Amino acid sequence: MKSKGMWFLLTGILIGGILVLLAVLFNGTWNHNNNMNQDHMMGNDSSTGQMGDHMMGNGGPTGHGATQNLQASDEPTQPLPIPTALQPDRVTGDTVYYTVEATKGTSRFFKDGKKSETFGYNGNLLGPMLELPKGKTVVIDTINRLDEPTTFHWHGLVIPADMDGGPHQAVAAGKHAQVRLDIDQEPSTLWFHPHPMGLTAEQVYKGLAGLLYVTDDAQSGLPNDYGVDDIPLIVQDRLFTDNGELDYDAHMNVDGTTGDTILANGVINTTFDVQTETLRVRLVNGSNARNFDFTLSNGENLIQIAGDGGLLEKPVPLKTISLTPGERAEVLIDFSQVEDDVSLEADGVTFTTFRVGELDKTSIDIPTTKTRERSTDEKADRRLTLFGMGNMVSINGKTFDPERIDIEAKRGDTEVWEIENKPDMMGGMTHPFHIHGVQFRVISRDGSPPADQEKGWKDTVAVAPDEQVKIELTFTKTGTFMYHCHILEHEENGMMGQLKVTE
Ligand code: C2O
Ligand code: CU
Ligand code: CU
Repeated sequence: MKSKGMWFLLTGILIGGILVLLAVLFNGTWNHNNNMNQDHMMGNDSSTGQMGDHMMGNGGPTGHGATQNLQASDEPTQPLPIPTALQPDRVTGDTVYYTVEATKGTSRFFKDGKKSETFGYNGNLLGPMLELPKGKTVVIDTINRLDEPTTFHWHGLVIPADMDGGPHQAVAAGKHAQVRLDIDQEPSTLWFHPHPMGLTAEQVYKGLAGLLYVTDDAQSGLPNDYGVDDIPLIVQDRLFTDNGELDYDAHMNVDGTTGDTILANGVINTTFDVQTETLRVRLVNGSNARNFDFTLSNGENLIQIAGDGGLLEKPVPLKTISLTPGERAEVLIDFSQVEDDVSLEADGVTFTTFRVGELDKTSIDIPTTKTRERSTDEKADRRLTLFGMGNMVSINGKTFDPERIDIEAKRGDTEVWEIENKPDMMGGMTHPFHIHGVQFRVISRDGSPPADQEKGWKDTVAVAPDEQVKIELTFTKTGTFMYHCHILEHEENGMMGQLKVTE
């Protein structure tokens, strides 16, 4: 009798606790700096699973709740804008000087819509492309012309932490800061975006994102005529008000802000006139939270030649290329056998149409790279557990604390990290895991070797629910670097830690 009463009491407490947690979860009132009690959350998966499904309604496999479905837009098409290749202020010897200003502007996204306030680098929306020649030093004067702090983060660049533009390098409104970047990594498509504490997701959503191309003469076999046979596509999803305005506050979702409309280089429904048989497209998933599956409307392959940090071991023909927020892929599209227009689709929705006319012959020679073979059962030096959703996200049970160093390492060390995505009671979601200051190799996914398109340098890696991804990284630069989930709202909610590399 006595033990039965106790059992009821305990069950009551457990159910009560779960209800409180659910209430906190859906109200979004959890204190950001609280370390969540992970064991408690995980305690009773089976009994809460059903309740979760019921409450969440139509959450898709990778998200919870209010994930917007992408819709084709009937906006009239416009030529794809190609971001300006930023001209250096000057070049002296081995140093290239640029100026990058974060500014406020306005943009009209719909022909009959109202203008929105947007942010851009050196313009109204998005930013220019900066060429970073391998082996050179690039000095950038960064200027914050916003009314709020920002930072200038060079995503994917292997540089010391004090130049990296993480949350510790805030530039106050109206201030300047100069960075010196020694470019010493493989040719690749990187990007830059803000990273200030609490404002990253909103500033990116409003338009702050630009391109960084690490270049090297050795890549001459690939199409590299910028804007002609080598084009960038910064792909983002956005939600608009009935007036056609962007309104982050109205649409912000703690689990990742998604939209129903796809933009390529900031524009809805774009066209690009193909002039050469082979087109090189540099895809950047610049969305706050959405994973994109890219396909061609004619069902042909995209040939992926590079990932986040440079070339792949070999070109990989793929019907579908999946990118999580922050990831990039360079692809070649072969138009030599194509007569009609071909569209690029994300999740089956057309957003950029390639118009094919007379094509110049191209002869290309695809360079490749060799990655070091690592055994898939390499022992992990560290284990990082990604967990949660919405406001209750964590890494190893902790939320971000700028005063706490989570991982210490020595410069020159090589480590194997195992990143695990622990599913939550709703089944969990994919977290794109990103590390500053390094390019790493994927060693294994759930014990199997990575797919060919992940055999190359990476700085952001998708980790699906219940998946374990092993990576190998070598620390070559010193300072305190961030690692985090690149769903920007998760990052804001504390799904971020600090890695300190010392001499
Ligand atoms: Cu692209 Cu820490 O970010
Ligand atoms: Cu980064
Ligand atoms: Cu996440």
